Amino acid sequence: MEKKLDKQVAIITGASSGIGEGCAREFAKEGAIVIVNYPKASSKEKAEVIVNEIKASNGDAIGYQCDVSKEDEVIKMFADVSARFGTVDILVNNAGLQSDAKFTDMTLEQWNFVIGINLTGQFLCAREAIKEFLRRGDNGKSKSIGKIICMSSVHQKIPWAGHANYAASKGGIMMLMQTIAQEFASEKIRINSIAPGAIQTPINKDAWDTNADMQNLLKLIPEKRIGQPEDVAKAAVWLASDDADYVNGTTLFVDGGMTLYPGFAGNG
Ligand code: BGC
Repeated sequence: MEKKLDKQVAIITGASSGIGEGCAREFAKEGAIVIVNYPKASSKEKAEVIVNEIKASNGDAIGYQCDVSKEDEVIKMFADVSARFGTVDILVNNAGLQSDAKFTDMTLEQWNFVIGINLTGQFLCAREAIKEFLRRGDNGKSKSIGKIICMSSVHQKIPWAGHANYAASKGGIMMLMQTIAQEFASEKIRINSIAPGAIQTPINKDAWDTNADMQNLLKLIPEKRIGQPEDVAKAAVWLASDDADYVNGTTLFVDGGMTLYPGFAGNG
């Protein structure tokens, strides 16, 4: 069967766990050469396990350490990957984290930390990716010269008390994505976001860890199930593929209906 991302070089940031890991596996299944980016030495082993499993299933992947909030490291990652594989075709701008606090207790350090990884990291990676797409031009692998998928969140739309830094970063991603999509659509570059809801990963373990927590969480999800990384990863594959060639500057919500205001069912 024809693979949707055959031989396309995909950098997936924050790919040593969670949604990024899911994307790494699905992109590899569709024939992409996957760069499993991980943030620090302590995640190296996790990234290696993913890389080895991909290779064992006849996929192609390497691990690459880079803190996406550091300009010099991001520039080096894109240069190294382009030198080794010829170019970069796809960026999944996924790396993200939370550092939650009541607003009046939130430190500037917590604010800067989350904005630095979630928003500045996406800016730096998108900028280097677009520079490489424009330098290389059409290489016949896809109808677009490059694709970027920005991992946002339902919290680009749903306000989230106790998570002001995180929600602000995701709101920022929405306008960053739309603005650069507008800026580069005429160059045949497609840039879109995915807004996941509650996906069962380490980032939100507190919300699903116990049965009571899970039941509470499910009240917010009309489909009455927590999402899995594959739910998001399959949407990311589609957005990166030529099947989505006319999709640009949009946010695809993958949230089991979380943004449908479930509190209003039978109420209001
Ligand atoms: C957050 C999760 C949360 C989900 C739904 C995500 O963006 O990272 O912690 O469970 O949104 O609220």
